[in-house]
Amino acid sequence: MSHYIIRGGNRLAGTLAIHGAKNSALPILAAAAVCGDSVIHNCPRLTDISVAMEILRHLGCKARREGDAIVTTRASGGNCRIPDELMGAMRSSIVFLGGMIARHGCAELTLPGGCELGARPIDLHLGALSQMGASITESGGRLLCSAPEGLHGARIDLSFPSVGATENTLIAAATARGKTVLTGAAREPEILDLIDFLRGCGANIAVELDGTILVEGVERLEGTEHRVIPDRVAAGTYLCAAAMTGGELLIREVVPGHLSSCLAVLTRAGCRIGCGPDWVRLAAPPRLEGMGTVKTMPYPGFPTDMQSVMMAAAATARGTTVFVENIFESRYRHVPELRKLGAGIVVEGRAAVVTGTERLTGAPMACTDLRGGAAVVLGALAAQGESVVTGLEHIDRGYDDLEGNLSRLGADIKRSG
Ligand code: EPZ
Repeated sequence: MSHYIIRGGNRLAGTLAIHGAKNSALPILAAAAVCGDSVIHNCPRLTDISVAMEILRHLGCKARREGDAIVTTRASGGNCRIPDELMGAMRSSIVFLGGMIARHGCAELTLPGGCELGARPIDLHLGALSQMGASITESGGRLLCSAPEGLHGARIDLSFPSVGATENTLIAAATARGKTVLTGAAREPEILDLIDFLRGCGANIAVELDGTILVEGVERLEGTEHRVIPDRVAAGTYLCAAAMTGGELLIREVVPGHLSSCLAVLTRAGCRIGCGPDWVRLAAPPRLEGMGTVKTMPYPGFPTDMQSVMMAAAATARGTTVFVENIFESRYRHVPELRKLGAGIVVEGRAAVVTGTERLTGAPMACTDLRGGAAVVLGALAAQGESVVTGLEHIDRGYDDLEGNLSRLGADIKRSG
């Protein structure tokens, strides 16, 4: 079984270019299923991206990698069913649903179900698609969707700004008959990146100042060439790694504005931060300070995807930090792992109180999920002595060459098995 052997205690310093955002590339690949031939640059090499390419092939597209780009062709033939193993391999397979119904008038897939972050319902996705004319039934854990007359525009108000439901609605609305008015939509940078891609393909989409999204359906989407935005969570992860090891890091090829809430927390922790148009520089103090209260919120609030790695950093700080997880019901599975290093963390419902300790000590740990796994790796980097970290399949879903990047910054981390 693949694992990391990490000898902690090294100060991380250097320069790093950040790869493209997984959470942009995935919905853009889902959109490519309803568009013409496209070239999508800056796609990270991740297992989730490979799963998305596999799904595209099932839907009748060709999808191949050329360097950092994925080249897709307009779907021809294909079927309206995603195999169960691909649905099971990646929860965000659900983001293919809107495009499938739009193109085929039907879709059949297994429910993505709960996962390591707790229950993850898809009622908002299904509600929006139903309002656009899809008939959806559920039987034996399978979703059967049809829209023999095609989809039509609708007024849709999401009761929570779900990222995935917003993406599904946008992709479906792009070629639906008439106008869709979407309120309560998510505003994450990845949503705007998807909109950019769809516009490049000829979609008629406007975003109003209050966040309302207007989509006037077009008959047919063409192809385009698009560059995926930088991965703000990967960027934040490396910044936390440098911050908690007293390091100094210049990250390039990022959009600093996407990182504002994280940079504010790192500044509170005592880091000095400078930004340019596409770079961020961080210089950490010898020891971080407690960060006060960090509440996860929809963008532009502090991202839930950064909660675990910021918690690893807080575990080494002088003072206390309180995290409040408002997005997912169960996103503290990394806590028992970090405690193995000696971290002082107490979870009470949605809150986690972290009392920083000067010395973490290496231990055997397992990655429990993607971002929780990154937190465990960061904890090991700051700990004295050796840690063995298993469960790397989680890391491989979202970090392109994590160990290579950390090694280049001075970490003692080796992948084995
Ligand atoms: C996206 O997941 C991201 N995944 C997640 O990143 C990220 O944590 C999340 O957005 C929030 O920012 C991708 O983009 C591929 P949501 P998604 O729908 O779309 C509830 C990572 O580590 N909800 O905004 O699934 C849901 O249960 C991953 O890279 C409903 O109740 O997130 C959750 O509590 C993990 N009904 C909350 O909304 C619905 O129909 C946010 O979910 C849909 C969601």
